Amino acid sequence: MAKLIVFIAFVCVALAAVHGKPPGGPGSDKDGPQHGGPKGPGGDHGKDNGQWATKICANDSIAQQFLNQTRVLITQLQGNSSFEQVLACRQNEINFINDPNSASLLSSNCTGFFDNLKAAKELDGEAAEEQKSLAEDAKKAFWSIWKGLFSS
Ligand SMILES: *[C@@H]1O[C@H](CO)[C@@H](O)[C@H](O)[C@H]1NC(C)=O
Ligand SMILES: *[C@@H]1O[C@H](CO)[C@@H](O)[C@H](O)[C@H]1NC(C)=O
Ligand SMILES: *[C@@H]1O[C@H](CO)[C@@H](O)[C@H](O)[C@H]1NC(C)=O
Ligand SMILES: *[C@@H]1O[C@H](CO)[C@@H](O)[C@H](O)[C@H]1NC(C)=O
Repeated sequence: MAKLIVFIAFVCVALAAVHGKPPGGPGSDKDGPQHGGPKGPGGDHGKDNGQWATKICANDSIAQQFLNQTRVLITQLQGNSSFEQVLACRQNEINFINDPNSASLLSSNCTGFFDNLKAAKELDGEAAEEQKSLAEDAKKAFWSIWKGLFSS
C-alpha cells in the first residue's frame, strides 16, 4: 500500500514536471499548459491556453466534437490498466469532462467551460503537489530509521 502511494505520488510529480509546473509552490504557474492542443505545450502558457480555447469556442460543432473525442479517449485509456495512475492524477479534470452538464455548458458558455476545466486542472495540480510533499515526509521518515540506527 505504502509502495503504491509512493508510486502514485511519483507519477503525479512526474506529470507535474511534464506539465511545466515549477516546484515553487501553489500559484506559481496558475495557467497550466494545454496538452493536446493544436499548438502543443510550451511558450507562454497563459496565451496558449486562451488561444486554444478561443479556437475551439469559435465553432460549437467543433467544440462538441472536441468534448466527444476527449470522452472517447478517456474511456479508451480507462480500459487500459497501464494508464490507471496517469488517470488517477487527473481525476478532477476527467470528472469535469465526463460531467453530464459539461456539454451544455460548452454550448451555452464556452469560456465558462474552459474556466471550469482550468480550475479542475489546477485542483489536480494541487493534489500532485500535496502528494509530492507527502512523499518528502515519507522519505524523511525512512531516512530517520537509518539515522536512528547509526547516529549517537
Ligand atoms: C464549424 O465547423 C464545421 C465542421 O468543420 C463546419 O462545417 C461549419 O461550417 C463551421 N461553422 C462555422 C460557423 O464556421
Ligand atoms: C457527441 O456525442 C453525443 C452523445 O453521444 C451525440 O449525441 C452528438 O451527436 C455527438 N456530437 C458530435 C459533434 O459528434
Ligand atoms: C496499453 O497501453 C500501452 C501503452 O500505450 C500499450 O503498450 C498496450 O499494448 C496497451 N494495452 C492494451 C491492452 O491495449
Ligand atoms: C460563463 O461562465 C463564467 C465563468 O464560469 C461566469 O463568470 C459567467 O457568468 C458565465 N456567463 C454566462 C452567460 O452564464
